[in-house]
Amino acid sequence: MRGPDLRETLSDETVAEIRAAWLEHGVLVFPDQLLTDRQQVAFSMRFGPLEEDLIDPSKFIANLGNLDEDGKLRDPASLKSRFLRANQLWHSDSAYFNAAAKFSFLNGRQIASDMQGGETQWADMRAAYDELDADKRSVIDGKVVLHDMQTSRAKTGRLLSPEERAKWPAVHHPMVRVHEETGRKALYVGSQATCVTGWDEVASQKLFAELMDFATHDRFVHTHRWRQGDLVCWDNRRTVHRQVAFDEARFPRVVVRTTVRGTAPDVIDGKPVDEFARARAAA
Ligand code: OGA
Ligand code: MN
Repeated sequence: MRGPDLRETLSDETVAEIRAAWLEHGVLVFPDQLLTDRQQVAFSMRFGPLEEDLIDPSKFIANLGNLDEDGKLRDPASLKSRFLRANQLWHSDSAYFNAAAKFSFLNGRQIASDMQGGETQWADMRAAYDELDADKRSVIDGKVVLHDMQTSRAKTGRLLSPEERAKWPAVHHPMVRVHEETGRKALYVGSQATCVTGWDEVASQKLFAELMDFATHDRFVHTHRWRQGDLVCWDNRRTVHRQVAFDEARFPRVVVRTTVRGTAPDVIDGKPVDEFARARAAA
């Protein structure tokens, strides 16, 4: 059976079916859906209001490809390519916003047919949480984590400028998130996780590394090998993802993303989120 043609306006029933399948599986793949920006935005908006592009807030779509404006391969050493390289670390989209992303849609607009590498991988943080032993759960339940974009950029060697830092300040999220729609718990840790509130950075990073090691074991991971026209959709509240490295100076790989905005928690662990920010400012 073929899936729906996502270039067309779908019925509410079809959208509800897709949403239900999405909540059940976490990641959905629709092959042969080479969309225009307008079609991708229209389809994505059926699932909620969209985030603006980080770089150009006049658009609801982000081009994460490795070609520049005139269609040539961009220098892998350019600022933009280095900025995007943080996508190779396990992360959940927009974890650096209070209202971290709900859903992401990534369309393979141009994928070299002889591509080597460049897959995208997802890890199921809900399945991983379910399998954590009781001791580990008792350590992490109720903990709050500071997420900072600078932390992931420091790992890929392209630090944010003072202006960028001011634009994207660090935010707090619970370490275990309860999904608003399914009620299921999932680990919420990724490349921006900086420290557990009340813990020092070394102990925090050690815990994050242990958890990510566990959660990205093969049995929790799905790898997608791209074909042009694939539309891959994931739930950021349940999964983390990363790009597998590839030769950026050789293979064109243009993927374009739309993102459904999340809602910020008012309260984390019984305390208003503001309280964490105030405590941190005072520290
Ligand atoms: C993203 C992302 C990874 C990739 O679109 O949010 O992290 O494989 N992409 O391009
Ligand atoms: Mn991403």
